[in-house]
Amino acid sequence: MTAKDEIQNLARLLRESDHTLALTGAGISTASGIPDFRSRGSGRWEKVDPAQVCSVQAFRRDPAAFWNYNLEWWLACLRAEPNPAHHVLARLQQEGLLLGVITQNIDGLHVRAGSRTWEVHGHLRTCRCLGCGRQHPFDFVSEQFQAGKNPPRCPCGDLLRPDVVLFGDMLGEDFQAATQVLAGCQLLVVVGSSLQVYPVAALPRFARQLVIVNRDPTPWDDKAVLVLRDDIVRVFEELAATLGLS
Ligand SMILES: NC(=O)c1ccc[n+]([C@@H]2O[C@H](COP(=O)([O-])OP(=O)(O)OC[C@H]3O[C@@H](n4cnc5c(N)ncnc54)[C@H](O)[C@@H]3O)[C@@H](O)[C@H]2O)c1
Ligand SMILES: [Zn+2]
Repeated sequence: MTAKDEIQNLARLLRESDHTLALTGAGISTASGIPDFRSRGSGRWEKVDPAQVCSVQAFRRDPAAFWNYNLEWWLACLRAEPNPAHHVLARLQQEGLLLGVITQNIDGLHVRAGSRTWEVHGHLRTCRCLGCGRQHPFDFVSEQFQAGKNPPRCPCGDLLRPDVVLFGDMLGEDFQAATQVLAGCQLLVVVGSSLQVYPVAALPRFARQLVIVNRDPTPWDDKAVLVLRDDIVRVFEELAATLGLS
């Protein structure tokens, strides 16, 4: 099958399904300048194990070191802009071809592109106090950090943590909501995920048909009706052209 046939096949599957969702991972945001964890050569995983530095345990052991390590890439996420793949997914929803996006990303780019989004690993819009539970805008943390106050604290004096799901955390209500919206899913389009982080990696089992758009192989490839090992932005720009979306 040529690349063009594959895109036409994807367009047909989208038109035929009336319960379609996308499941996205870090790979959809690499074109926005945010490195993923597992791409060969550039993934963050190759430098450091996120389960060590991005975990509840790391936060408890040394909150200042936790913020020191993580804040830089989180601020890069906040500076990034949605790329054409985020925009095409939002457009597919407007056209009634997609119900929304379940994402593992914390960069908020699907929300900013206008998609209905279930952010199963949380987001960087807010942080919360471990003592009084109050939520603050994320800027409240970064401003303290930049003024040399590390670890950042709530006015009540207690420590602040990000509203992202850390290794060792339970998944939040968006994950529950995502499993509900996946019930009856006819088509799930996985975009830019190595499908190695559980329990999200188990979500494809809810879908009757699976399409995978990812440069590297995933453990679900043999179950998929279509696998596009191509650049994500290229795939979605060509898909938009094939569907006549401008
Ligand atoms: N942008 C973010 O918010 C961000 C960034 C890094 C990590 N994370 C977190 O880390 C975890 C990582 O797991 P994951 O499965 O999402 O990502 P991952 O890093 O495990 O896998 C990303 C996949 O995307 C593919 N990819 C990267 N750029 C691509 C491109 N331009 N075209 C085609 N394929 C491309 C790679 O081949 C890789 O298999 C997630 O839980 C996520 O919360 C989030
Ligand atoms: Zn507080």
